[in-house]
Amino acid sequence: MTRTDENIPILDLHPKIGSIRDEVLEGLSSAQKTLPCKYLYDKAGSVLFDRICEVKDYYPTRTELSIIEACADKIRDAIGPRAMVIEPGSGSAQKISMLLDLLEDPAAYVPIEISKEHLRMAAAKVAEAYPDVEVLPVCADFTGPVPVPKPSAEVRRKIIFFPGSTIGNFAPDEADVLLPQLVRAAGPAGGILIGIDLKKDREVLERAYDDDEGVTAEFNLNLLRRLNTELDADFDVDAFRHESRYNEHDSRVEMHLVSLADQTVTIGDERFRLRKGETIHTENSHKFEIDEFAARMERHGARPSETWTDPRGYFGLLFFEVASD
Ligand code: TRP
Repeated sequence: MTRTDENIPILDLHPKIGSIRDEVLEGLSSAQKTLPCKYLYDKAGSVLFDRICEVKDYYPTRTELSIIEACADKIRDAIGPRAMVIEPGSGSAQKISMLLDLLEDPAAYVPIEISKEHLRMAAAKVAEAYPDVEVLPVCADFTGPVPVPKPSAEVRRKIIFFPGSTIGNFAPDEADVLLPQLVRAAGPAGGILIGIDLKKDREVLERAYDDDEGVTAEFNLNLLRRLNTELDADFDVDAFRHESRYNEHDSRVEMHLVSLADQTVTIGDERFRLRKGETIHTENSHKFEIDEFAARMERHGARPSETWTDPRGYFGLLFFEVASD
């Protein structure tokens, strides 16, 4: 425990996690079986996810960080001094220090995170490393409207930092609800710095979500383990295999759990039959084209301002400006 752990007040909106049981039963009752992706991130899942970000085949994290490093001066100029940085879904807040390091005199940091444990740890870590930055954590589900706390120091502009192509984990219609909310949160004269994974060869994409080291497979299968523990389910984890599929029509990598046999799964007193080869769809990761994404943001009221990418054109870091009134 650090001193800051106890001192940083959290604005707690008491996000409701919903009933895991109801959502799971509903997902398994549909024709294409699904499980809600948010349940991938229990304790074990969060550790596995941090490991995914480091495996060789998963290029997005490394590529995004290399862009931030290579374009540090330009990012600093685009954002300007005394920014308040708001990060929806900050998780373990791995990337924020790179941004705070390059910014000119950052004023405040607002991590928004549904998991209070993650939030508390991340807030403490940032507060300790950046004593001049006011840390104002908010415990909330960022897919709903989130009030932004008032900083005590002078802030020139609000910047939404949304890295990791997290936007790609939303269906297009959901993203079209979320993006205007981000624009609103940035407010007049605000900015949005967002990372998007770009369309590329199927092979590279499928490999990124089915890495050689098997970490993504473990991450996906861990969802079944979690349901066994938390819901009194009896998934035979060995009777499923992880698969990543690039669905070119919908521009997304889909994560599935493939049933290796005809089998029945019991959850409490509900039973579900799976045929051999049938899948449970657990997650989507949409891939974008820069121009198309920029046009979309423009429709939502944010003007495309800067585009940074890596030499291979794998990943895009885009900066958008919101008009002053
Ligand atoms: N935002 C990340 C992405 O879409 C999340 C992610 C990476 C992920 N690997 C995953 C989600 C595997 C589910 C399964 O790239």
